[in-house]
Amino acid sequence: MRRKIVAANWKMHGSGIFVREYFEQLEQAWRQAPATCDDVVICPPAVLIPSVVAVAGSAGVRVGAQNLAAQAQGAFTGEVSAGMLADAGCQYVIVGHSERRQLFGETDGVIREKLAQALAAGLTSILCVGELLSERESGAASRVVSAQLREALLSFPVNAGERLVIAYEPVWAIGTGRSASAQDAQDMHRVVRETLRDMGYPAGQISVLYGGSVKAASAEGLFAQPDVDGGLVGGASLDAVEFAAICRSI
Ligand code: PGA
Repeated sequence: MRRKIVAANWKMHGSGIFVREYFEQLEQAWRQAPATCDDVVICPPAVLIPSVVAVAGSAGVRVGAQNLAAQAQGAFTGEVSAGMLADAGCQYVIVGHSERRQLFGETDGVIREKLAQALAAGLTSILCVGELLSERESGAASRVVSAQLREALLSFPVNAGERLVIAYEPVWAIGTGRSASAQDAQDMHRVVRETLRDMGYPAGQISVLYGGSVKAASAEGLFAQPDVDGGLVGGASLDAVEFAAICRSI
């Protein structure tokens, strides 16, 4: 069966001291009550990956990156390759986050190349999809999300489903404090799963996470939905105690 996953997206936050204090608090929180999901994943900024990897094992968490290069190696100043991330101890990588799409001009073609790089390096991609507010209001949400999946996964092999996690993140819910309702999330997760099935993937085995203003208070209702297999958590993941509570909400 598919895994229950809670992943933290720290975005561009953190420092060496932050990592130390965060993991002290996380381990203390686990001693009170452990996570109930299968995998807890922390995705720090690239330069903090080694410090997080150093403490991740004892805290029982896996490490992911927030982004990767679309190329394997070469003259690409400032980029970090999938192989480097795997070598540094990452098992996961977020691909196609809406901030990358909107602020850094990532196209479906770039996302396809990044997915291929991640797969070649043995990383599991957390592929993000989600509609804009205007698209939801015009009734186009399902069509938009389904099309994003089809475009991004055009050349991703159907037998590599175990290296794929989908995060449904409605853009209007990211960082706004306005989460999708549990029912709206479930409806869209079903669309995601049906699209994956239609494309030939083992859809019942692929984890589909919800992201967008997930908090401890809302996590339980979201995660109780049959097609919601966990969350991708931004703002609330920066507080170790709050994040630990979210990891116990499955
Ligand atoms: P948020 O971010 O939880 O702060 O809304 C989620 C994300 O961008 O992955």
